[in-house]
Amino acid sequence: AAPTRYEAENATVVQGVVESNHAGYSGTGFVNGENVAGSYTEWTVTAPAAGTATLAFRYANGTTANRPGDISVNGTLVADDRAFNPTGAWSTWATSTFTAPLQAGANKIRATAAAVGGNPNWDYLDV
Ligand code: GCU
Repeated sequence: AAPTRYEAENATVVQGVVESNHAGYSGTGFVNGENVAGSYTEWTVTAPAAGTATLAFRYANGTTANRPGDISVNGTLVADDRAFNPTGAWSTWATSTFTAPLQAGANKIRATAAAVGGNPNWDYLDV
């Protein structure tokens, strides 16, 4: 099936703000998390059945350094220090895709900044 798009601006943001000052985003904006380890954005994603799902995070990182993130599903780490490498500009967006197990129904997918630089800017999560 085609993925469902979950905009970051509709997610739960802890230590961060929704902004729209860099072009190219989907929806009405993107999330700019605070530049601290531990800041996070959490999406609630609905799966029709338990099983492996493809998670596609669209992000921008206008710095010259990796912005590693810890991705968890319902509190279980599924990607440790996943690299969100520079995209060249804050208005240049890239998609990072991997698979993870989901349960049937609601799933909490959290992207937590794993280093002091914080997360990249988040545009959306496609599942
Ligand atoms: C800049 C940029 C923000 C970004 C921030 C960061 O301030 O305008 O969109 O989130 O850098 O370093 O995270």
